[in-house]
Amino acid sequence: MSFESGRGGAGVKLAVCGKGGVGKTTVAALLAEVYARRGYRVLAVDADPDANLGAALGFDPGELARVVPVAAMDELIAERTGARPGSVGGWFALNPRVDDLPERLGLVRDHIRLLVMGGVKPAGGGCACPENALLQALLRHLVLQRNDTVVVDLEAGLEHVGRGTARGVDAFLVVVEPGRRSYQTARAVAVAARALGVRRVLAVANKVGPGQEKVVRGGLEAEMAAHGLEPLPLVAVFPYEAEAVQADAEGRPVYESCPRLLQVAEDLFGILQAELERPE
Ligand SMILES: Nc1ncnc2c1ncn2[C@@H]1O[C@H](COP(=O)(O)OP(=O)(O)OP(=O)(O)O)[C@@H](O)[C@H]1O
Ligand SMILES: [Mg+2]
Repeated sequence: MSFESGRGGAGVKLAVCGKGGVGKTTVAALLAEVYARRGYRVLAVDADPDANLGAALGFDPGELARVVPVAAMDELIAERTGARPGSVGGWFALNPRVDDLPERLGLVRDHIRLLVMGGVKPAGGGCACPENALLQALLRHLVLQRNDTVVVDLEAGLEHVGRGTARGVDAFLVVVEPGRRSYQTARAVAVAARALGVRRVLAVANKVGPGQEKVVRGGLEAEMAAHGLEPLPLVAVFPYEAEAVQADAEGRPVYESCPRLLQVAEDLFGILQAELERPE
């Protein structure tokens, strides 16, 4: 099985966000695995500076250790933007060529190609530097111009996604866990998403213990209502699985160690297909 032999077409573009530690990487890895198992070519994009999507996806630790994040590829950044990373105030290309990069840079396993971005800085008004110009151009390209399915493991919020990129994402999945702080982040994501013209924000509950589903639903609804916002559709509920923590600590892929989580991700695939067919 190779990456190229996978299904392309108008691949779905998904971005996973949410408060620190809620399970963004876990959910992104499970979804990437499910799409790949169904034959889609998947670009799994690790946009978190503390990259660990590759480990959750079962890539070889030795290979992962040798991966240089795009943000740290000084030569490439200089070649494409015309300026060295760290240079401030000088001229550099804001729209560098990036279309050949996914093929050149990614690690491949089955139908999954992993791209490690490194520290993406906030888009727009944030960091005007060559490395961020390249990273933003690459994210934009992945979301707007690729046929592949794209799953982006983001940092907490949407600050790192430019407006054009955000609009190209089919759905932002905001992960929540039982606990108020994750609902607050979800609410902040929903507000930012509206300002950016994002199409869909869907909530995914994770680490849900027995009998907690109602609590999460109620808590999230109350948080949104308290700010005069529509409720977020809750499209999946991943149970708490002690085995996930163990697998993460040992660097084993989550889909292998937690069949129950993989099953929920399989169901989520179907729900997303239906959701994305509905008019926005
Ligand atoms: N359903 C689950 N049940 C139990 N533990 C889980 C579950 N999902 C994730 N975890 C564990 O919670 C921890 C954080 O998960 P993960 O790394 O996916 O979160 P994250 O949101 O990506 O974190 P960060 O903000 O640090 O990037 C990990 O140890 C992971 O194994
Ligand atoms: Mg993570």
